Amino acid sequence: MQRTHIADIIKEEGKTVTLAGWVHARRDHGKLVFIDLRDRSGIVQVVFGPDVAGASELRLEYVIKVKGEVKKRPPSMVNDKIPTGAFEIGATELEILNRSGEMPIPVDTDGFDINEERRLQYRYLDLRRERLKNNIIARHKVIKFIRDFLAERGFIEIETPNLSKSTPEGARDYLVPSRIQKGNFYALPQSPQQYKQLLMVAGLEKYFQIARCFRDEDTRGDRQPEFTQLDFEMSFVAREDVMALNEELLIAIVKTLYPQKKIQEIPFPRISYAEAMQKYGTDRPDMRKDKNDPDLLAFCWVIDFPFFEKVKADAAHSEASAQEWTFTHNPFSAPKPEFMADLLAKKNIPDILTTQYDVAMNGLEVGGGSIRNHQPEALEAVFEIMGFKKERIYANFGHMLEALSFGAPPHGGIAWGLDRLVSLLQNEPNIREVIAFPKTGDGRDPMMGSPAEVEEKQLKELGIEIKKKS
Ligand code: AMO
Repeated sequence: MQRTHIADIIKEEGKTVTLAGWVHARRDHGKLVFIDLRDRSGIVQVVFGPDVAGASELRLEYVIKVKGEVKKRPPSMVNDKIPTGAFEIGATELEILNRSGEMPIPVDTDGFDINEERRLQYRYLDLRRERLKNNIIARHKVIKFIRDFLAERGFIEIETPNLSKSTPEGARDYLVPSRIQKGNFYALPQSPQQYKQLLMVAGLEKYFQIARCFRDEDTRGDRQPEFTQLDFEMSFVAREDVMALNEELLIAIVKTLYPQKKIQEIPFPRISYAEAMQKYGTDRPDMRKDKNDPDLLAFCWVIDFPFFEKVKADAAHSEASAQEWTFTHNPFSAPKPEFMADLLAKKNIPDILTTQYDVAMNGLEVGGGSIRNHQPEALEAVFEIMGFKKERIYANFGHMLEALSFGAPPHGGIAWGLDRLVSLLQNEPNIREVIAFPKTGDGRDPMMGSPAEVEEKQLKELGIEIKKKS
């Protein structure tokens, strides 16, 4: 279909154009019918005289094709709130491409006052609202910028499997039963952590991925059961190299895509975990000098975390109640060099600090990473401190220990919560607003009706029986 996007009509004054889109608003004045026509690029007023058939039939959200002349509106009628507001279309032809039932939710508001369950049930309509459309487009732009930035610096984008094996990130796994290997399960990855390290062993040196991650944990405003990370890993680097590259990329995203925003302090200030807890009572401090300024971004690095902490009673990754220590962030991290001897000797455990670095912004943890243990003895010592028996270490992580024994280079990396970053940049109150099809707070998708029961036949094929609740 030959059509002009609505945003482009400002270059077409006096010409006849064909537009296609949705009826956003409608005012029927008898002889004249006015509609606001909306497409992805914008909104424009279309005026139908009595000579154009069908105009009085139009209702909200009908999909139409309109031919007409681009005319300048009289100065008193200019709508300076929209870029096309100085123009209108004098329609000469109308074709109704599709009708719409009465809308279950309005789409011409910001949507904040609509029940979220209903918004998610009709997400495909909810996404028609300008605020959400802009968020989805902004997300695309951030991702495109990241891809170009990293590719220019020699990174390659590599996909890693989603049907995988449990990787310890501190949450519970989503499991996928195998039909062919009955009684066995894949785990959906909580992050690509192990694969990206194995890509370093493979000698690929600079990896990144826009990676979907899955964590079975209680959902909150800044957490979804499936979410997206910008994940990267680099070989032959020290902590400073990874932090410098991240800082450069974050600054470039803000300066290029959000020029109206101000970064409070460059280089990003660094604070130790101990100091953050003491001063702010949290390990993701909100350092903004003016918390009412929506354009102020206060990034900071939090470093020098303890490697281990005492096991909490209900921790998902604790083997048994006998386990005393667990990792605070990532079992694959290396300790700071001065603590390597203690790690290997398994002594002074609470004092060992990790190379972990977290980047926080305005009180949210945007990302975290570390330099890894690239020698198998050190990784094994981590699991031993966590009280894992040899058999369990080899059953779960034998492939990692083996890989590290074949000339693994020193390496490190980081992952950002992309949804979180975009929601902060878009000034959105939670990450659901920047995800096309998010889940509710209790992990449901009211539109698809998931999670759902499955047919008996499917369960049988998988060798699974559901115990009926009594
Ligand atoms: P971590 O577990 O800290 O590190 O995750 C990295 C970032 O991912 C985001 N994030 C989430 N976002 C939305 N919903 C969730 N449920 C959720 N969980 C985490 C956060 C967090 O900072 N493999 C390591 C990274 C590494 O060491 O390289 C990892 O996954 O913004």
